[in-house]
Amino acid sequence: MNLMSTVGTNTGVRSQAEGPTAAVSANSVAGTVKRKPFLLRPAAKVLLFALCLLPFWWLFYGAWANTLGPNPAEALIRASGDWTLRFLCITLAVSPLRQWANLPALARFRRMLGLFTFFYLLLHFLSYSWLDQGFNIDAIVKDIIKRPFILVGTAGLLLMALLAVTSFNRAIKAMGAARWQMLHRAIYAIALLGLLHFFWMRAAKNDFAEVAVYAVVIAVLLGWRMKRALAKRGAGTAI
Ligand code: HEM
Repeated sequence: MNLMSTVGTNTGVRSQAEGPTAAVSANSVAGTVKRKPFLLRPAAKVLLFALCLLPFWWLFYGAWANTLGPNPAEALIRASGDWTLRFLCITLAVSPLRQWANLPALARFRRMLGLFTFFYLLLHFLSYSWLDQGFNIDAIVKDIIKRPFILVGTAGLLLMALLAVTSFNRAIKAMGAARWQMLHRAIYAIALLGLLHFFWMRAAKNDFAEVAVYAVVIAVLLGWRMKRALAKRGAGTAI
């Protein structure tokens, strides 16, 4: 899976459907002024951007108005962790949804969703570093070594940072599409690390209901990707 992909289909979508030539020729053939589908319009990206920021504003308002409950620090750390996992799942769902609904234009939104995953993960890490550890680097390092679930989460954070800094077109050009795509498959490893982090944390409380829901969602998304990879390999050997 290509987290913040603009390689391949993304570029294709833009050149085939977004290009001015395509719009002009479609109009002249039909003899009427045809409007671009909403998903291909800049407004769609603006709308998605605003939607992705809603959880942030909700948390920000909650912290400001003191409506996050009796333990606002814990609520903020947990809610930002939940949103990280949700955005990870949404990002992983783009490709299957694109294929299933036959909407190639969805690829345009993958990079933004991936970057929002990183945004909420940074918020999660910063809330923890500030509200749990008082920005004490020594304490943070000791905690990472001491608590396995924090160590696993940190591995996810480091991998995610690598994907975020290489998510831009210049990095794709510098690395080459094949190497870039290979690196960006790490999104699956990040999803599994995030899930393990969540599982480990909830194991201490013997509370697995929510973890099970995320595990099913991630298993379905990973299963889809593996099935597609196997089908591609099969087609390759048949030729
Ligand atoms: C891919 C990376 C990560 C994901 C997906 C993730 C996700 C989550 C989730 C879903 C929760 C549970 C929220 C709940 O109970 O509703 C959580 C809790 C937590 N996470 Fe993360 N996390 C990640 C990385 C990190 C990192 C890097 C740190 C710190 C170094 C961290 C520290 C914590 C802490 C302290 C809690 C709360 C524990 C508690 O309240 O007992 N997480 N995280």
